[in-house]
Amino acid sequence: MESLERIRELFPIVKNKVFLNHAAQSPLPKPVADAMRKYIEDFSNFGASALELTDLGKSLFAKLIGAKPEEIALVENTSVGLNIAANVLHYPPGSKVVTTDLEYPSVVYPWLRKSLGVKVQYVKNVDGKILLEDVEKAVDDKTVAVAVSHVEYVNGFRNDLKALSEIAHEHGAILIVDAIQSAGVIPIDVKRDNVDFLTAACYKWLLGPAGAAYLYVKEELIREFEPPYVGWASVNQEVFETIDFWDIWSLRLSENASRFEVGTPSTVSFVGAAEAIKMLLEFGIQNIENRVIKLTDRLMESAKALGFELQTPEEKPYRSGIVNIKTDKAQQIVRELREKDIVVSARAHGIRVSPHFYNTEKEIDTLVDVINKSR
Ligand SMILES: Cc1ncc(COP(=O)(O)O)c(C=O)c1O
Repeated sequence: MESLERIRELFPIVKNKVFLNHAAQSPLPKPVADAMRKYIEDFSNFGASALELTDLGKSLFAKLIGAKPEEIALVENTSVGLNIAANVLHYPPGSKVVTTDLEYPSVVYPWLRKSLGVKVQYVKNVDGKILLEDVEKAVDDKTVAVAVSHVEYVNGFRNDLKALSEIAHEHGAILIVDAIQSAGVIPIDVKRDNVDFLTAACYKWLLGPAGAAYLYVKEELIREFEPPYVGWASVNQEVFETIDFWDIWSLRLSENASRFEVGTPSTVSFVGAAEAIKMLLEFGIQNIENRVIKLTDRLMESAKALGFELQTPEEKPYRSGIVNIKTDKAQQIVRELREKDIVVSARAHGIRVSPHFYNTEKEIDTLVDVINKSR
């Protein structure tokens, strides 16, 4: 990787804030903001088409997660991706979906709709961890899907996707993954881990704008499912090349994941998303993870040395970019930190800290110092 000094030149935020809140909404790096500005200027002056750029984003996201571009659909956000997954499945009477008690609402709500008629079973965390033996006990032949976050938003616990897909597939269930808290900071390989659906928006660790997200659907499954919503974007795009009118008498769904797209996306958001993923791939996700783990190691060690309890499991395979430091005064401390331009979040009686690869050891030390004085 380039020197940290050079990298930090790409992040204007560092001049104004100690930003350690990438698990919430990330500031735009300069190349991303520039690409979006240029697109808007071109659009205003010449009328721009972003079709190639949205396609480029699909290829880049595919590369990021080890998939093929044909397996990627554009969606507005992670919640839409999860809802598509929930609504294409069939739920015979008595069937269930297995999830965990650490999930973000959008991972669970789509299955709580009464009209689906599916039972939701929550695997309970043990000291902030989801144990595979407990998932094994919960998943049975009535299970249609296992739905989890790759990284849990409150405490950063990282699930083992390969182990989860093995458990799900043994019972004929599918694995649905919310990767918004891992994409961009932790390497993902959907083929190695045999994931069926995966979705992530770009406004957190991917360092892109809101309004752009991707949905991966495993190739073998695409044609099995009729999308819950359809529109012009859902049909075979070859029609553009061969005919100049729409066939409105039949619905010929696309053979690839674009069948899950409906209409015109927020093109400026996808322009920014493509630029952001390109930048992250150039730095290398493994390098980014190594750097973030180094920073979070430092944070965990200093917090413990000052007598703080961590809500984040410390074992390396469970780790991510998120650390949660337990305190009864989380809201108050987070407010005090914001007054000093240090940005973190209060979550579940703790301070959630989420540094990215461009943060420094000094920023971590400043944070710990202020937390210690505010306790
Ligand atoms: C795990 C998880 N999933 C989903 C979301 C929300 O995603 P979106 O706004 O893209 O629907 C969040 C936001 O905090 C999250 O942490």
